[in-house]
Order: sequence, then C-alpha cells, then structure tokens
Amino acid sequence: MPYLSPALNVMVAAARKAGRALIRDFGELENLQVSKKGPADFVSTADQRTERVLIEELTRARPGYGFLVEERGLIEGPDKSHRFIIDPIDGTTNFLHGIPQFAISIALERDGQLVSGLIFNPVTDEMYVAERGHGAYLNDKRLRVAARKNLAEILVASGAPFMGKEGHELFLNELRGVLNATAGMRRFGAASLDLAWVASGRFDAFWERNLKAWDIAAGILLVREAGGVATDLNGRDNMLDDGEILVANDSLHRPLLDLLRTSK
Ligand code: IPD
Ligand code: CA
Ligand code: CA
Repeated sequence: MPYLSPALNVMVAAARKAGRALIRDFGELENLQVSKKGPADFVSTADQRTERVLIEELTRARPGYGFLVEERGLIEGPDKSHRFIIDPIDGTTNFLHGIPQFAISIALERDGQLVSGLIFNPVTDEMYVAERGHGAYLNDKRLRVAARKNLAEILVASGAPFMGKEGHELFLNELRGVLNATAGMRRFGAASLDLAWVASGRFDAFWERNLKAWDIAAGILLVREAGGVATDLNGRDNMLDDGEILVANDSLHRPLLDLLRTSK
C-alpha cells in the first residue's frame, strides 16, 4: 500500500471529487462533438470548474497554503513555506477530442522542495501518487522505472510544439536524432501522464521543452521516487523555471542528454 501523508490524503480526496465531475463532462462531450458551436467553450468551463473545486477543497483542508495554478496563476497564502502546483486538466486537447488521455496533476512544495505528488486519470481510474522518500505508486502498486540500458531498445515519449508555439525546427531535429537511435517514440498529449508512464516503466524516457511548472511538478517527484533521473536539457535541476525536462533511468539519462544536444 502506498504511504500517504495527511497532505497527500487531502490531495487524493480533492482529485477524486473533481474527477467525478470531469468524467461526467467527458461523457457529455460525445454529444457536443457534433454540435456546430463545438465543445471548446464547454471544455474551458470544465477546466475552470475543476480548478475551482481543487482550490476550494485544498484550502478547506490546508488554509493558508499558496497555489500556483494554470488558470489563475500565483495565489499567495499567509503560509509562505507551502504551495500547491496544479494543472486541473493536463491534456486538454485530448479531452476536447474525446481521447481519454488527460489528468489532474497536483504537487505540494514545502520550502521549495517537491514533497507530495499526484496524477489522476479519472477515466481509467489510474491514481499515481508519490511522497518524497516513500516511493511512487499506481493505485496500490509500487512503481519502478524501466531497467533497459540499450538505446536501441527503448520507447521514448515527447511533446511536439503546435501552431503558434516556438521551437518547431529544434523539435524536428531532436526527433530525428531520437528516431535514428531508439526503438520508437510516442506523442500522447499529456505531459503529466508521460511522466507518470516513465515512472511506471511503460515509457523508458520522456523529453519536452516549453512546459509550465504545473505540467511537470507532480511527475518529477513520481519519476524520482520510482528511481529515475529528472533534469532540464542542460542536466540541471531547474525544470520548474525553465520548462524543459528529460527523464529516464540512471543508465539512459546521460546518453539521451548527449543525443539531444548533438541533434540540434
Ligand atoms: C499540455 C500537455 C501537452 C504538452 C503541452 C502542454 P494542457 O498541457 O501537457 O502534452 O505537449 O505543452 O501545454 O494545455 O493540456 O494543460
Ligand atoms: Ca498542462
Ligand atoms: Ca491544463
């Protein structure tokens, strides 16, 4: 059974509550796909409501903690040493298209250090949790990153920049490098779940640029607690600020960092 600190328990309860409404919305979307107006407005309402529910639930249990959340940004609390970092729906484009690959992502920082993390896909009911020093779990199962050491055998995930985002050329160069050296790549559209899937050994590695702290905070803790390595693309522990990330097991991390560097 996973070790859940009191704070992580509160995070799990909040995510389950917000997740129930999200499942209903996801079901509704099937009807909206065919409407003329399209489901985009509906999704942004779901996004905002999920964020509100999470903030309400977490504030009730932990009054005074601060927040860094996607829609409302930074919300400072009187307790300067704690803050929740939240993405209410990570994988919005999937959600919008009726693809069940999206998640609620919540991390708790204490004095600048990630101490608890949760990534919850309400459709598949996969609850990933990690507590600093106590391991990472998928539901009741302890997680461990994959052990593969040979680049030629690994499956790598990434996120591709879309219209209006910078870095298309750089991404295509990095992708070429990875495709030439590995067994394959996937782009599933929810960075939080990409990280959770590295923690659970489904993917061997994941890299992406131009992410936000709420996309990756919980996932970084999960990967580390599953025995993996997480850095930015310069090998530094600055991911929440610079938004770049590479995660993999200890043997693969350095070769992949070099591969990405030389693919520019
Ligand atoms: C996005 C997803 C996607 C990643 C994008 C993110 P959102 O988050 O994590 O996988 O490639 O960069 O913005 O917008 O669905 O919360
Ligand atoms: Ca996101
Ligand atoms: Ca989001």
